[in-house]
Amino acid sequence: MLDKPLVRRHSLDDDISAILVDEATIRQRVLALGEAISAAYAGQDLVLVSVLKGSIIFMADLVRAITVPHEIDFMATSSYGAATNSSGVVRILKDLNVSIQGRNILVVEDIIDSGHTLSYLLRLLQERQPASLRIVTLLDKPERRAVHIDVDWVGFAIPNEFVVGYGLDYNELYRNLPYIGVLRPSVYGGE
Ligand code: PRP
Repeated sequence: MLDKPLVRRHSLDDDISAILVDEATIRQRVLALGEAISAAYAGQDLVLVSVLKGSIIFMADLVRAITVPHEIDFMATSSYGAATNSSGVVRILKDLNVSIQGRNILVVEDIIDSGHTLSYLLRLLQERQPASLRIVTLLDKPERRAVHIDVDWVGFAIPNEFVVGYGLDYNELYRNLPYIGVLRPSVYGGE
């Protein structure tokens, strides 16, 4: 028997210093992105590729905001290095199930930070000769960009804060928060 129950004493919200993008604002923006994407791909074949795990919540809401027929598939990547910093080295943990040759591919990301993950992924996908390859990201941190990426649709450009929620994690937690929040530095050993 354990002395103490394995239950957190406080709520996840207590670790958030500020809400950067609230639920209603996310909902509105995702609907607008869905509309724009639907218009761009009207009458065309389309495959949405979600980059796990961060993009799952955005992906789930976005596909329901897209009115044109499309397929979905998933890839998983992992960057080596410190938990709060992208190192530039990317490995593929899960590849696509389908061939993308000759198809219109829309990569769905939760956040672009240094750009290393997408840069690597785009090179990899481009080699498979899709008809087109475009990107939608919910969040963009332009200040942090180390490699140039042409992003087709951005939900929100955000400052260089450590954000979690709506799919984004710290140590695999906080993904279930319905908003995008700034994590208190004390949680990850910052100032
Ligand atoms: C995050 C995010 C992007 C990447 C962005 O993924 O989902 O894929 O980092 O950073 P970059 O632009 O500096 O490469 P992470 O590796 O944290 O995995 P997760 O989505 O499973 O949380």
